[in-house]
Amino acid sequence: MKQQIQNRLQKIIKNLYNIEIELPTLDTPPKKDMWDFAFGCFILAKELRKWPPQIASEIAAYIKDNATEEFESVSVAGPYLNLKVNTKFFIESFLEFASSDYLEISEKKSWNVVVDYIWANVWKPLHIGHMCTPNIWSVIINLNRKFGYNVIGDSHIGDWGIIFWKLIVAYQKYWDPKKLEDNAVEHLFELYVQISSDAEQDDSLEDDFRKTFKELSDGKTDLVELWKSFTGYSIASMNTQLSRINVKPDYNIWESFYEWIWLPKLEDYPDLKWNMHSIVDELIEKWIATKNEDNSVGVVFPDEAKLPSCILQKRNGTHGYLASDLACIKYRQDNWNPEKIIYSVDVRQQLHFQQCFWIASQAGWIESEKLTHAYSWFISLKDGAMSTRKWKIIKLDKLLDEAEEKAKNIILEKRDDIQWDELAHLSTIIGIWAIKYGYLKKTRESDVIFDWDEFMTFEWNSWPYIQYAYVRSGRILDKIGKLLSPQDIDISQMQDTSLTIEELEFVKLFWEYHDMLSEALEKNAPHLIAWYAYNLTKKFSSFYNAVSVINEEDTEKRNLRVLFVQMFRWYIKDSFDLLGIDLPDKM
Ligand code: ARG
Repeated sequence: MKQQIQNRLQKIIKNLYNIEIELPTLDTPPKKDMWDFAFGCFILAKELRKWPPQIASEIAAYIKDNATEEFESVSVAGPYLNLKVNTKFFIESFLEFASSDYLEISEKKSWNVVVDYIWANVWKPLHIGHMCTPNIWSVIINLNRKFGYNVIGDSHIGDWGIIFWKLIVAYQKYWDPKKLEDNAVEHLFELYVQISSDAEQDDSLEDDFRKTFKELSDGKTDLVELWKSFTGYSIASMNTQLSRINVKPDYNIWESFYEWIWLPKLEDYPDLKWNMHSIVDELIEKWIATKNEDNSVGVVFPDEAKLPSCILQKRNGTHGYLASDLACIKYRQDNWNPEKIIYSVDVRQQLHFQQCFWIASQAGWIESEKLTHAYSWFISLKDGAMSTRKWKIIKLDKLLDEAEEKAKNIILEKRDDIQWDELAHLSTIIGIWAIKYGYLKKTRESDVIFDWDEFMTFEWNSWPYIQYAYVRSGRILDKIGKLLSPQDIDISQMQDTSLTIEELEFVKLFWEYHDMLSEALEKNAPHLIAWYAYNLTKKFSSFYNAVSVINEEDTEKRNLRVLFVQMFRWYIKDSFDLLGIDLPDKM
């Protein structure tokens, strides 16, 4: 709309003054008549050598005489020209817009983007924190793909380091085949907790951990088999849980991959050409890292970096998390030459990534502007029912089960005669989508407290609210029985081309979709999409309450309103596809 008005104004200025000029984006005055636009005439002052107020009056006079089709009224306020668009012109512009590929992004980029997400470890079941990164990042992935980027979603899963050696020792001591069969990851977690508390009592276990590390490093077959089975269990369980929230990782490249090139590859990703040792050697050669007297290797940052020093390689030759992430950056750069790498890891790892990005760019592997740690904050529950104690985590599965349970109760309150299988089906979709949406509407830069009442309400910004309106809009279209296209509307036959404020405010939001998406992309901010969908739904509801659609007597006007409703549904559908949330047609 703005664009159309801008083009019109540009033509008017050309006719009036015979100059070609690129106009800046028009202002939208924040008052209620939102179809007004304001244009500051300063920009023409220099070229025309006139006072802006004078220019404003001249343009206004010209519009009054010549452009009555487009503008309902025009007024001058100092250097500003205030334009009120004629609703007939508004409808014409709308129909033109509705005939275009309005959901498509026109300027597509074909760059590669790596999104690092999931943020999990082999031995640990997914927990409530996994409502954050996998959800946010699957949206970021969808969004980047919408803009044409080729996205590689890779999760850098923790399977290496002391935790893993402990796990193997624990397994050899305590494993229980029955438990392993029932729920492998749960059992691994139990083993891990057990051995950690043993180690607090018994120092000699440290030797066992070291020995295991050595043996696994040397490729001892039974240990490699164990590694394979642990990683296999974790992936299987992770995939099942993530599928409940509609998230599917592309690759899971393990931390260990960057250390031991001979461990089997579990999926189809490019081979490694070097390992963490060679990375560390390269950094020493480039004078970025230094070898200490005790044989450990570390980095001391210059003052201006304002970062504490760090260790890349311990004195026994093993590597930690930082080295694995550095090797990972080099690997991603080598294989995918990404335009950006975006990390979705929680805020506690901020320092880790600052150090990592500094070293990688210093080493010349990638420019630091291409690396973003877009962190998320913490999640907790409002009712303390599932509180955390040491080694107690709120498992993702439990959280999702509880969401389904709550949804079930809500449905039963409304429909006590519902069939059992429908109840099961509905409680899954309502429960899971409600918390997913409830989470995604929050900015990732604040702590999130899970409040079931807030997520499950039909009143305010929630999935049920939007879903309900979506279903209602579907019923309107069912009555029409076929989809309309802009060509079905003949404006010359429309008896009255005025529009209500509710219609204008509702439809104007369609034009804002792309700008909102660009902002969401740039800021890695899925909540903007969720809020857009909510605002659009609110405006749809006011529109629907203010005017009649099906019962409108003027056929052209009725068709126009039906088209509004149709487009509302496409926008909601597109937004929810990006959010990774389904919109069933019935509720
Ligand atoms: N597995 C790691 C952890 O739990 C998180 C991995 C995040 N990604 C990364 N490239 N460091 O701490």
